[in-house]
Order: sequence, then structure tokens, then C-alpha cells
Amino acid sequence: MIPAPAEAPVVKVLPGGFRFPVEPHESLLRAAERAGLYWPTICKGHARCGRCYVVVESGHENVSAMGDQERSTLTKIRGAAAPDQERLACQTRVDGPVVFRRRGVHERSTLQEV
Ligand code: FES
Repeated sequence: MIPAPAEAPVVKVLPGGFRFPVEPHESLLRAAERAGLYWPTICKGHARCGRCYVVVESGHENVSAMGDQERSTLTKIRGAAAPDQERLACQTRVDGPVVFRRRGVHERSTLQEV
């Protein structure tokens, strides 16, 4: 018997209050795009631009560990070591519920992308 797939954890993004599931091994950025949301990015998920930065408000224990490239990019855009609650959405994975904060995230149909 094949076990049923586990339900993907659902995240919430403030201040918009968007809720959507994040599949295993899927980044927060990709999950948001799949959910029909615009998330600021220039490099399209390659951990180079830093535009996708996000703050973890709660559920830190459910967020993947930070990699060297992510830490390097965050340090460059901040000009100093980034606090652990700041992450890149394109590199962040989750294995449980998390609340994030990121201004500028919106439904793709509500505003025209620049
Ligand atoms: S999308 Fe560019 S750093 Fe994440």
C-alpha cells in the first residue's frame, strides 16, 4: 500500500494576509508564484539580487537552514550580517506553518508588474 502524500504546510504572508501551501523542496518564492502572487525579484530565484527578502515572524523552527549563497547576498544588501529572521524567499523552504512579512507581495491581477 502506498502511503498518502502528506499535506503541504500552509504559510501566511503579512501584511497582505495571503495564505498558500508550499510543497516539499519548493521555495517560498515559487510557491507564491504558483499561488498567483507577485513577489519582488530581479534574478528570478538565483539568490543574487536580494529583492525577494522576507522576514520570518513566527514558525522559525519550520524554516530551512540558511545556505552560504543566501547569507552572502543578504549580507551584501544589508551591508552587515543579516539577522537570522531575514531570509531570501527564493532559498527558503518550509516543513510546517510559518508566518512571513513582506511588503510588495500582491495578487498578480490587482496591480501591473513593473
Ligand atoms: S529572487 Fe533574487 S535573490 Fe531571491
